[in-house]
Amino acid sequence: MPDIRIYPTFGNASSAAAASIAEAIFHACEARGMCTLVLSGGGTPKRLHTLLAANPAIDWPLVHLFFGDERCVGPSDEYANFRMVRETLCSVVRVPASNIHRIPGELGAQQGAATYERELSRFFGPIAGPPRFDCLVLGMGADGHTASLFPGAPGLKDTQRWVTPVLGPTASPPVDRISLTLPVINNARQVFFLVTGKEKAAALRTVLEPDDAAAPPLPAALVRPDPPAIWFVDNAAAHLLHQG
Ligand code: 6PG
Repeated sequence: MPDIRIYPTFGNASSAAAASIAEAIFHACEARGMCTLVLSGGGTPKRLHTLLAANPAIDWPLVHLFFGDERCVGPSDEYANFRMVRETLCSVVRVPASNIHRIPGELGAQQGAATYERELSRFFGPIAGPPRFDCLVLGMGADGHTASLFPGAPGLKDTQRWVTPVLGPTASPPVDRISLTLPVINNARQVFFLVTGKEKAAALRTVLEPDDAAAPPLPAALVRPDPPAIWFVDNAAAHLLHQG
């Protein structure tokens, strides 16, 4: 069962998520001498990143930053998730450049996905299954997508690759993307969702309280890690939940 935590406001949900993620970073560094942290894109995580950056207890030189997905644009493009992370986190804290593992969206979806998969393989070394990230942060779109796994997308069924190209998604901005796949996401030691705003309420209800067994699950509902994901949501996003 997912761990759903509902807060009055966007700020409260972001603060609670920041505290929980900081704790997970600390435990990873204690246990393994480093933390592999996957960040989400979009707009919701900006406050989260600011709060993480303000946390003096996080030993950033021990943290390796990865990305759950990226748009196929240059790193300084206004639509680049990397640019948002650089502005809200990397420009504030001392993460060594060698610890920042950017998805090269500028290479295009196919080449960029292959290149990032090689980067993951290099970083994690020879491993049997998908990489196991310590902390993996996700958002969710109003259509129930997460990372850049959109409803009905072929990448949802990708069980072999760790990184998948996403061609012509019905998304804003309407550009190709690159995304981690579900086997990687579901192998993380801890997945954190941060979902806020009333425009997410219908999808959140469908994901967390599905009432149509015949309907294909939304991508965010396919995120079923062990231990279960922790959902940080605000009242506006949760208002259609029975527990909301
Ligand atoms: C992206 C994100 C995506 C995001 C959702 C929600 O590249 O857009 O990775 O999965 O989390 O689209 O976006 P907002 O936080 O902007 O609502």
